Amino acid sequence: MSVLMRKRTGPIGAPDSCCADLVPVKVAQLNDFLTQHAGKSAMVIPALQHAQALFGYVPPEAMQMIAEALRTPYARVYGVATFYAQFRLQPAGRRTVRVCMGTACHVRGAGSVLSAWSEALGVKPGGTTADGEITLEQVSCLGACGLAPTVMVDSTTHGRLTPGKVKQVVSSLRKA
Ligand code: FES
Repeated sequence: MSVLMRKRTGPIGAPDSCCADLVPVKVAQLNDFLTQHAGKSAMVIPALQHAQALFGYVPPEAMQMIAEALRTPYARVYGVATFYAQFRLQPAGRRTVRVCMGTACHVRGAGSVLSAWSEALGVKPGGTTADGEITLEQVSCLGACGLAPTVMVDSTTHGRLTPGKVKQVVSSLRKA
């Protein structure tokens, strides 16, 4: 039986209805993937990766589908999705800020730069601003170590950032 056709019997905290807000063709593609791996609880991470590739993030409805198809508790699927930084639980914003936390950037103060971004945008790394505009991510290297600490805003690289400079970049971002 298709994952989508099965009566929902998920645990408290799992979504009550499946996929009303998701693109049907992508739901069908996830369903196909899950049908191929039905009952294989070891496939949780590949299934989450597949869902994220399809939707751009891992919606709760996809986690519910994965839990049911792989016969794994929803809490475990949710736990895996929240444990690994590679998984996004919200749609990405229109703009993306990637703060490098690689070694070269780390030793030159990337931690305080990341904190400054987080404070200025009001989100933790991995989160998206309340208006859905800007997603803040932390990455391991942007390939511009000579400019450390480095941040990429969309496709523009900003080097030698300080918390003070972050405020200037944020204010120009807000005006753009
Ligand atoms: S470590 Fe930050 S750009 Fe390479």
